[in-house]
Amino acid sequence: MSKASVVLGCFYGDEGKGRTTDYLGQFSDVSVRASGGNNAGHTIKVNGVKFAMRLIPSGILSNKTIAIIGNGVVLNPAVLLGEIDMLKSHDIDVDRFLKISDKAHVIFPYHANLDVMLENKRVHKIGTTKNGIGPAYCDKYERCGLRVGDMYRDDFESVLRQMVATKNELLAANNEPTCDVEEIVATYMEYAAKLKPYVCDTVTLLHKYLKEDKNMVVEGAQATLLDIDFGSYPYVTSSNPTIGGILTGTGLSVRDIGDVYGVIKAYSSRVGEGPYVTELCDEVGDRIRDLGHEYGTVTGRPRRCGWLDLVALKYAIDINGVNYINLNHLDTIGQFDIFKACVAYDVNGVETQDFSTNEEFLRTAKPVYKEFKGNFGDISACRTFEELPADAQDYIRFIEEYTGTFVKLIGTGADRECMIVREQ
Ligand code: IMP
Repeated sequence: MSKASVVLGCFYGDEGKGRTTDYLGQFSDVSVRASGGNNAGHTIKVNGVKFAMRLIPSGILSNKTIAIIGNGVVLNPAVLLGEIDMLKSHDIDVDRFLKISDKAHVIFPYHANLDVMLENKRVHKIGTTKNGIGPAYCDKYERCGLRVGDMYRDDFESVLRQMVATKNELLAANNEPTCDVEEIVATYMEYAAKLKPYVCDTVTLLHKYLKEDKNMVVEGAQATLLDIDFGSYPYVTSSNPTIGGILTGTGLSVRDIGDVYGVIKAYSSRVGEGPYVTELCDEVGDRIRDLGHEYGTVTGRPRRCGWLDLVALKYAIDINGVNYINLNHLDTIGQFDIFKACVAYDVNGVETQDFSTNEEFLRTAKPVYKEFKGNFGDISACRTFEELPADAQDYIRFIEEYTGTFVKLIGTGADRECMIVREQ
C-alpha cells in the first residue's frame, strides 16, 4: 500500500508550493487538494504555457494524473467551471481526470457579499481575499452549508431559495447589496448539471487508490501561519492548511501519510494584515518584492516582504512533521551582497528561539539576525548542490543545522528545470 506525499507552506503562503507539486507530479498518479478555496492561486508554467490554478490540483497538468478536490475544500462553481474550460482549451483531459468530493461545501454569491460586509465591520481588518471563503466555512460549522452532493437532492431548489432569503435578510439589515434569488437558482442548477459527471465519494476513492499502490500527492493551499488554529489568529484564513487539515480535508489517515514537504522561500512574504516579525518596511523590503516579483496571484496586491524567519520555520516543521524542506528563490536572495535570516527573537530583552502565535508576543518580538554572504551570480544552470557557490551552500547547510531538516529541493530560477534535487 502506498503513502501520500504532502506539500505544505511554512509561512504566510506564496512560498511556491506549485514548484514542489510540479516536481512530485512527475511521479504521481493522483493529486489531491484538501482545504481552502479560490483564495489560493498558483501559476505553473508547462511547456512554455502559464496556467493559473485556483481549485484544481495542478497535477492534472501532466494529463496523466487524477486530480481530486477533497471534502475540506470550499468550492466556487463559477471559478471551477472557468478553470475546467481553460484546461480543456489546452487539451487537458479534465473529463477523464477530475473528481470532486460530494462533501465539499459550495460557495454562493451571498458568501462573497458577507465577506465584504464582515471585513468592513471588523475593527482589526484581516485583509481577506473577499471570495467568501470565511462565510462559507462559517456555514459549514453552523451546519447550514450546502455541499456539492446536496445540489442533486430533490429539495435543493427550495433549500437554496430559503438560504438566499435568510442571507438577504442579513445583508439588507446591514445595508449591503442583496442577491437575486432567481438568478442564483437558475445559475446553480446549471452549475450542478455541468459538475455532475465529476462528483463522487472521494474518500473511498482515495483509499482504493492507495490500496492499488498509486503514487499520491496532497497539494496544500495557504500555509502554516495562516492556519485558523496554529496561525496568527485572527489574521488567518478560515481553514486548517496544516497537516491536520490534510487529514480531515481528504479522509486520509495518519498511517497514509508519507513524506511531508515544507516549502519556504529564501526570504519571506505576507499578504493581508497581521503581525510579521521579519517584515522590512524599507527599501530592502521593496527590493525583495521587486526581485522576487512578490505580487498576489489572486488579488494582485503587493506582498509585504522580509528576511527568512528560522524561528517560525522550526515551528512549522514541528506542527506539520516536515521531513523535507523545499527552498525556493535562492537565486533571488543571492542578488544581495549581504542578506540575513532570523535566528532568534528578542522579547523584552530576553532572547528566545521559541515561537508562539500569541499576537502580543509576535508584535513585541524583535528579530535577531545572522548575516550571510550573497552575490551568488547566475545559479540557474546549477543542477547539483556541489555546483552552487560556497556561500549559497553555507546558507543551506545553516538552515539544515538550525532546523534539523534536510533541504531536498532548491529553486534556483523561475523556470521549471531550475531546481536542484538532493538525495539524503
Ligand atoms: P481569506 O482566506 O480570503 O479569508 O483571507 C484571510 C487571510 O489569508 C488574508 O490575509 C489573505 O490575504 C490570506 N490568504 C488567503 N489565501 C492565501 C493564499 O493562498 N496566499 C497568501 N495569503 C492568503
